[in-house]
Amino acid sequence: SANNEFCNLLKDKHFVVTAGGTREAIDPVRYITNKSSGKMGYAIADALTKAGCKVTLISAPTNLQVPKNVNLVPVVSSSDMEKAVLNNFKLADGLVMSAAVSDFKVAKVAQQKIKKTAEDTFELKLVKTHDILKEVAKIKTDGQITIGFAAETENLLENAHKKLLSKKLDLLIANDVSRKDIGFNSDFNQVTVISEEEQLSIQKSTKTEIANQIVQLICRKVNK
Ligand code: CTP
Ligand code: CA
Repeated sequence: SANNEFCNLLKDKHFVVTAGGTREAIDPVRYITNKSSGKMGYAIADALTKAGCKVTLISAPTNLQVPKNVNLVPVVSSSDMEKAVLNNFKLADGLVMSAAVSDFKVAKVAQQKIKKTAEDTFELKLVKTHDILKEVAKIKTDGQITIGFAAETENLLENAHKKLLSKKLDLLIANDVSRKDIGFNSDFNQVTVISEEEQLSIQKSTKTEIANQIVQLICRKVNK
């Protein structure tokens, strides 16, 4: 089909895909995470593989089965993910950053399980994590493409545009995470894909279908 022919450009390209919600330890038995299921990232990894790409999937913990022919790099925290992404991106043609990376981590992880005290309140100090896409932007070369996601609950397109520019992305996939019927944990999604030249809405469909459409758009961005 026309689609398959179009996708020949992706054959043998190496993509790094990230997925899932990172976990930031509080103490040996507790952590901070988010609602990401990893489904969108796993669907993209699968779709890229089927388009002929070599895919390295850097995944935070999920309940998902690893797609066939995908090379899995399991990670837990945002700093683990950062190291794995920077290592693997160097030799890759592109990066799809679908992981929900923690914006903050615990300033001082307790070595022993934290005990209750007589106090009624407990304060946990958090510090910012590195923005992985901004680190990638610093080492990105002309031949490499980077794709990010924007999870927003308000001002979707305005915030998404800012992220496209500040992270030097080729494509930004904007996700309205305030809707209960799509996004986090759902098998469905509805996204708007933004580049510097255009803005394209993909109607509500399964994450598998959205992933296929995103791969078509990636194909258009890949250098011949
Ligand atoms: N991202 C990243 N490193 C981080 C945080 C986010 O690489 N420490 C990536 C995400 O994987 C995603 C994109 O940046 O592809 C946007 O993530 P999002 O949470 O929507 O935006 P942030 O830049 O973290 O800004 P904010 O959460 O404040 O809206
Ligand atoms: Ca964030």
